[in-house]
Amino acid sequence: MSSRPIGLDVLLQRQGFGTRRACRVLVFEGRVTVNGGMAAHPDEEVAEEGTAFTVDGEAWVSRKRVVIALHKPVGYEVSRKPQHHQSVFSLLPTSFALRGIQPVGRLDTDTSGLILFTDDGPLLHSLASPRHSVRKVYVADLQEVGAEAVAAALNSGVQLHDEPGPIQAADAEALGPSRVRIVLTEGKYHQVKRMVAAAGNRVAGLHREAFGALQLDAGWPAGEWRYLEEEAVAALSGGQKGELRASPS
Ligand code: URA
Repeated sequence: MSSRPIGLDVLLQRQGFGTRRACRVLVFEGRVTVNGGMAAHPDEEVAEEGTAFTVDGEAWVSRKRVVIALHKPVGYEVSRKPQHHQSVFSLLPTSFALRGIQPVGRLDTDTSGLILFTDDGPLLHSLASPRHSVRKVYVADLQEVGAEAVAAALNSGVQLHDEPGPIQAADAEALGPSRVRIVLTEGKYHQVKRMVAAAGNRVAGLHREAFGALQLDAGWPAGEWRYLEEEAVAALSGGQKGELRASPS
């Protein structure tokens, strides 16, 4: 990808390694390599996109924007300032938080599964916007048996107390006596739990297995994040089916 050259200090700052001054110090202290060799000077020109560098021995490739997906474990809050549990940001490199990544929507602390983060404001807005109707696929374990009845209720529509009219799932199917797969295109507060409660049952466990065309596969351990490459990002809201590539971090 073509990319205009910028100073190494600016590159490091944009990639989340601190203020420009702190990044200059990193270079002067000999803690940075670029394209395989020790960085000579913070004013050295490098490509903004695709430069291979290390800071304190950790390898990176520069990206103008970051889009990542995390398999969120249960027990982490999707917040920078968690109240009662650890923050999901503790599972991600500090440099990502410093460059301002934000979650695309939320998952509850007791929900596991796929959640995206990006520092690209317009992308964040478009993926989170109800107008774009990105499909989110959840698997809910129910407190009581009766998955068929819950799926039927969600397919025909349930009334939530603060909504003007009934809300339907884009799709719902029973996976077992007390397990349901639910597809939603909105992202209202506690939506799955409230819809299941409105259908007369309770959610005992919740997992998000897909966001748009991106699936959590079996080989993606809880707590691990991956980069989404451009092609995967473009397909996210395109309603494309099938697996998308996410590069292991
Ligand atoms: N709906 C919920 O109730 N909780 C989540 O975490 C996600 C969707």
